Amino acid sequence: MASHGILLASLLVLSCFSQTSYGIVLFSSLKDSLLVTASHTENQVLKAGIDKLTVSWGLNQSYEAGTDSTFKTIKVNLCFAQVSQVDRGWRKTVDNLAKDKTCLVKIVERPYTSSKSNDSFDWIIERDVPGATYFVRAYAFDAADQQVAYGQTTDAKKTANLFVVEGITGRHLSLDITSVAFSAFSVLSLACFFIAEKRRAKSS
Ligand SMILES: *[C@@H]1O[C@H](CO)[C@@H](O)[C@H](O)[C@H]1NC(C)=O
Ligand SMILES: *[C@@H]1O[C@H](CO)[C@@H](O)[C@H](O)[C@H]1NC(C)=O
Repeated sequence: MASHGILLASLLVLSCFSQTSYGIVLFSSLKDSLLVTASHTENQVLKAGIDKLTVSWGLNQSYEAGTDSTFKTIKVNLCFAQVSQVDRGWRKTVDNLAKDKTCLVKIVERPYTSSKSNDSFDWIIERDVPGATYFVRAYAFDAADQQVAYGQTTDAKKTANLFVVEGITGRHLSLDITSVAFSAFSVLSLACFFIAEKRRAKSS
C-alpha cells in the first residue's frame, strides 16, 4: 500500500515536472542561423515617431540545407543593449525566453518564406518607444509557436553596432532647453542693444 502511494506520488511529481518543463525555451539553446541587418550606423541617434529603420533578415547561407525546415514565422524585435538594462529589472535578460525582457518592442512579424531570399521591413520608430540604446534581434518560430533560431545585429556580447533611440519625452525636454537658451540669448542681445544705444546717446 505504502509503496503504491510512493509510486503514485513520484508519478505525480514527474508529470508535474514534465508539464512545467514543456514549452520552456532557453535562449542559449538556439542556433544563430538567421542573418539580421539594419540600416543604422554604429551609435546613430534615431528619433522616435520620425526616423525610419530598415531591417532585413534571411538564413545564414553557411548553415546546411534543412536548418530552416521548422521555421514558420519570423518575429523581429527591438532589444535593449546592456547599458540600458543596468538597474532596470523590468528589462532584464533571462535565458528562459518566456521570462526574458530584453526584447520588449515588436517591430514586425512575417511568415518565413524561403531560404533563398532575404526579407525586409521599413519601420518608422514608434512614438512610444522609450529612449534607450538598442539592437535588433529576430527569432524564427516553429509551427508550435516556439523559438527555434535567432539572429541579431550585434555580436554575442551585445556591445557592437548598437544604436540610440531618442524618445519623444527626451526630445521635448531638449526642445525646451533650446528655447530657454534662445530666450536667454534674446534678452541678453536686447540688453546689449540698449547699453550700446545709451552709450551712443551719451557720446553724441
Ligand atoms: C554565418 O554562420 C557561420 C557559421 O556559424 C558564421 O561563421 C558566420 O559568421 C555567419 N555569418 C554572419 C554574417 O554572421
Ligand atoms: C541576405 O543578406 C545578407 C546580408 O546582407 C547577404 O550576405 C546575403 O547574400 C543575402 N542572401 C540572399 C539570398 O540574398
